[in-house]
Amino acid sequence: MKPARARRAPGRGAPLRVRCISGPNLQLLGTREPAFYGTETLQSIHTRLVARGEALGAVVEVFQTNHEGDICDLVAGCRPAGIDGLLLNAGAYTHTSLAILDALLAVGLPCVEVHLSNPDTREAYRRRSRMAPACVGRVAGFRGESYLLALEGLVGVLRGG
Ligand code: DQA
Repeated sequence: MKPARARRAPGRGAPLRVRCISGPNLQLLGTREPAFYGTETLQSIHTRLVARGEALGAVVEVFQTNHEGDICDLVAGCRPAGIDGLLLNAGAYTHTSLAILDALLAVGLPCVEVHLSNPDTREAYRRRSRMAPACVGRVAGFRGESYLLALEGLVGVLRGG
């Protein structure tokens, strides 16, 4: 299945709405395996992401949960909430979760897969992404900056780029 592309031209002056979801163990950023993930906290990444969104004309909502079903609920709730697109770092669920893949396919909104590390350079079990078939793209390996680069890419897609 082809990933969803831009669905609508942005209304004149109407901000885009982006939901950013981070999955399990990402609340531990700052101290978690800094060689892979750096030392920036998730709170700091969120603060920078919201500010970059403002600069780009996008309202960014940020969430973190350790629970697979909560991620499904957050994805499924995007259309009722008027969300235009998604940033998703599903953590280890990236490599395992058909439930989250199905949620992404069901909502059909543009989603960018985000990773702080580059999973392709790590263990073999991290090289498969279950999320990829439902994503317009992926940004990986730039630590916290991956989220901001992913937002730039998503906004471009939503604006028809
Ligand atoms: C991660 C990579 C995953 O393989 C890992 O399980 C994570 C973090 C990343 O951001 O680099 O929890 O998604």
